[in-house]
Amino acid sequence: MLKKTVVMAVIGALTAGALVSGVTVAFAQADVIKARQENRKATGPEMRAIKAVIDAKGDLKEIVPHAAKLKELEIAFDKMFPAGSDKGETKALPTVWSDMPGFQKASANAAAAYDKLAMAAGSGDQAATAAAFGDVGKACGGCHTTYRAKAN
Ligand code: HEC
Repeated sequence: MLKKTVVMAVIGALTAGALVSGVTVAFAQADVIKARQENRKATGPEMRAIKAVIDAKGDLKEIVPHAAKLKELEIAFDKMFPAGSDKGETKALPTVWSDMPGFQKASANAAAAYDKLAMAAGSGDQAATAAAFGDVGKACGGCHTTYRAKAN
């Protein structure tokens, strides 16, 4: 009788433990989805700040730190797609996981576009900076076309 109680208690503890770790995994995935969405949201103010300088024909050097920030965000971004994080409140398409090398290449292309923008802005060339900013926009859209669901 006593023995049976102990066995039941052990089974109970094991079940509770399994549940706890299952919940932890679910939380971790929600967290990583949230983190990568926050990462992308953070590109907005940088893009707007860059556009404002270009439109105002302002001091192009002010663009350099914004381009650097975009690159910093990009480097963190493509590591926020662990297996299983395709499930949940995410706009990332299954193609991210089925074609991870292509996805990472799209991210690397964007990173290269931010570098080119920083170089052009640092050189003070208005036309080259505007063109490089256009290429940044294309790099964003290029990835979204293949790897992100359309906003509804
Ligand atoms: C390498 C691919 C890739 C690149 C490059 C990229 N994005 Fe995205 N972006 C995504 C994916 C995937 C999502 C969906 C993330 C999710 O919902 O889990 C996303 C989501 C977003 C969102 C929505 C965030 C939210 O509120 O949930 C914005 C805004 C955004 N991107 C802006 C940009 C901008 C601006 C750029 C360029 C500076 C850019 N992205 C470059 C792949 C990319």
